[in-house]
Amino acid sequence: MQICRSISAIRDAVAGFRAAGERVGLVTTMGALHDGHMSLVAAAKAGNDRVVATIFVNPTQFGDPKDLETYPRTEAADLAALEAAGCDAVLIPQAYEIYPEGDETVVETRELANRLHGAVRPGHFRGVATVVTKLFNIVGPDAAYFGEKDYQQLQVIRRLACDLHMPLEVVGVPTMREADGLAMSSRNVRLTSEDRAAAVCLNRALGRAERVAAEGGSPRQIEEAIRATVSDEPRATLTGLDIVSPGSLAPLGQSPDAPLSEPIAIMISAQFGEVLLIDQREITP
Ligand code: PAF
Repeated sequence: MQICRSISAIRDAVAGFRAAGERVGLVTTMGALHDGHMSLVAAAKAGNDRVVATIFVNPTQFGDPKDLETYPRTEAADLAALEAAGCDAVLIPQAYEIYPEGDETVVETRELANRLHGAVRPGHFRGVATVVTKLFNIVGPDAAYFGEKDYQQLQVIRRLACDLHMPLEVVGVPTMREADGLAMSSRNVRLTSEDRAAAVCLNRALGRAERVAAEGGSPRQIEEAIRATVSDEPRATLTGLDIVSPGSLAPLGQSPDAPLSEPIAIMISAQFGEVLLIDQREITP
């Protein structure tokens, strides 16, 4: 695996792959890799001849400087995991190269970035969109892989790639789950054993939503089923529940009380002790 610490080094590596006529898949990360990231690498490997990963803790997507400072940095373990997964090259750039002196350009998806999670994290999706655009321009992949779990992020990236005519495919990779259905996340290790057991209520609530939809339930009934399932779990505090149109994340066009007649995306978040967990599901009637 080639370890590249500059833009020119990764460009040389990718030029070598291209010269051999190889298709290149990209997995962008901020490091602290877990099984969810590895599923992105596996998907990239399955769909391409070569896999390039990036590790860059992007300062512009953090609201609170303390979060940026304390973000886990585990480079040696990350490199070992990427190598073991068969990654071909990794870019670990310096912040001053990604954001050159005097830099002024940002990428912003207007509506998408300011809805839902974006409304409570101002600037976050602008930071994500800007850095992902830069990484796409640096690596020039044929396809780039992102987890469906970060559902709004995935929609922002799909939108910018389409709007800016980027010649690449943005691939959403289904959420990896533990045996009991809990979505994998680096935060799960911070749950107490009681909260870990309780956290499965998120997947249970989404499963119940699917059943209500299949039985002809309305968006309001779907929402009530989710709220009831999470509130049956005393250790969980529901902090966010949005039922929106997939892709645009706009409010649904249909009546909330009519049987579900259009595809929906459900985005849910709940607090378990100190730990905030998210999950999502798309349902097509
Ligand atoms: O999902 C992440 O880890 C980050 O938001 C990303 C896409 C690597 C951009 O910094």
